[in-house]
This record gives sequence, C-alpha cells and structure tokens, in this order.
Amino acid sequence: MNAESRNDPVGFFTETSWTAGIIGLGYIGLPLLLTASRSGLGAIGFDVDESIVDQLKLGASHIDDVADDDLINASAGGATFTQEPSRLAEADAIFICVPSPLGRNRQPDLSYIESASRTIEEVARPGQLVVLESTSYPGTTEEYIVPSGGGESRAEARRRRLRRICLGKALPWRCSGNRADPEGRWRGN
Ligand SMILES: NC(=O)c1ccc[n+]([C@@H]2O[C@H](COP(=O)([O-])OP(=O)(O)OC[C@H]3O[C@@H](n4cnc5c(N)ncnc54)[C@H](O)[C@@H]3O)[C@@H](O)[C@H]2O)c1
Repeated sequence: MNAESRNDPVGFFTETSWTAGIIGLGYIGLPLLLTASRSGLGAIGFDVDESIVDQLKLGASHIDDVADDDLINASAGGATFTQEPSRLAEADAIFICVPSPLGRNRQPDLSYIESASRTIEEVARPGQLVVLESTSYPGTTEEYIVPSGGGESRAEARRRRLRRICLGKALPWRCSGNRADPEGRWRGN
C-alpha cells in the first residue's frame, strides 16, 4: 500500500492484487490464507510453532478441513509459510488468527493476542491494515492492538476500559462460539 492508496483503502483492497499476512495458521488462519491465495492475492502465513510451519512447507496439512493439495497449489502460487516475523512487513493487511481460550473465571486469555500485537509492532509499516479475527470482547482492538493517542499507553487504555466495565457503562459482550473445535480444547469459548 503506497501513500496515495492509503487515501482510498476501499479502492486499494478491492481493485489491486494486495498481500495478506496471516498470524496463526490454525483452523481459522490457514483456510483464510488459502482463500487469499486462491483469489490471486499474495499470502504470507506466520506461526510461532516450528513443527506446523515445517509441515505446511512440505504440503502436509494439520487441519482436517484443509487438503494437502490445497497447500501444494497455494505454495505453487507463491504463498509462503514462515516463522520469520519480518516477512509480515510485506503484507498490506495483517490478520490476527491466534487462540483466545477462556481461562479461569471464563475470562478470555488474551496473552496470544498481546504477543501477536508485539510482533506487529516490531514489523509494522505505515499504511498496513490490521484485522483481529480472534474471538474476544468489543474493545480488544483498541486496548491491545491500536496504540492509543494522546500519550496513553495500552495498559492505561485497558485500565480505563476496565473502570468503564466496573462502573457498568460498557455494553454487555459475549465471545462468539467456535465453529470447529475437534479436540474439544476450548469448551465454552
Ligand atoms: N475454530 C473456529 O471455528 C473459530 C471460529 C471463530 C473464531 N475462532 C477464533 O479464532 C481464533 C483462532 O482459532 P483457531 O481455531 O484457528 O486456533 P488454533 O489453535 O487452531 O490455531 C492458532 C494458531 O496460532 C498460533 N499462534 C499462537 N500464538 C501465536 C503468536 N503469538 N504468533 C503467531 N502464531 C501464534 C498457534 O501455533 C496455532 O497454530 C481464536 O480466537 C478462536 O476463538 C475460531
């Protein structure tokens, strides 16, 4: 995305062949990457799990719904699987697809989203679009991903948000249910 196209992001993302960067290559991230690749877009998949990345590079799927042939076709079309975060700088839009399991007291564990945000901070360049696909409550993007203006740190933004929730001023929220959870790891999420 160049400076000119930043003034017209809708035109840029509908009319050009842009590159999607996916963080987290699981049940959500991997099919998303393949959809991007099939649509003729650039596709860069980043995961912290070395064994998953190595397997994907070999064209072997670890996701039930994804066929090995789809991986092989995507790689032949230029899709990349990597453990190297700097490759995400090549993306025009970055999609966060990391886990957000419910922890004790049924609070979402947002540590994976925080970690992905730190990765983006390290590699981001002006004009990139960041999309949070992970399930969480309204306000997560503001609190964990977008650096707040006015000198407010993300931790301060979180505290401000928590105060709003405690005062009963926040909208009620729910985490959306998983469509696929073959191992039953996140019951109730
Ligand atoms: N599975 C579903 O049907 C479904 C539906 C809607 C929403 N969601 C949400 O999507 C998110 C992802 O779910 P999933 O089922 O794809 O999870 P998953 O466990 O199948 O895949 C997550 C991947 O993220 C990787 N990862 C973890 N931390 C990372 C980091 N910091 N940087 C890079 N990679 C990292 C893991 O190694 C793993 O490969 C969750 O928030 C989930 O609630 C899932």
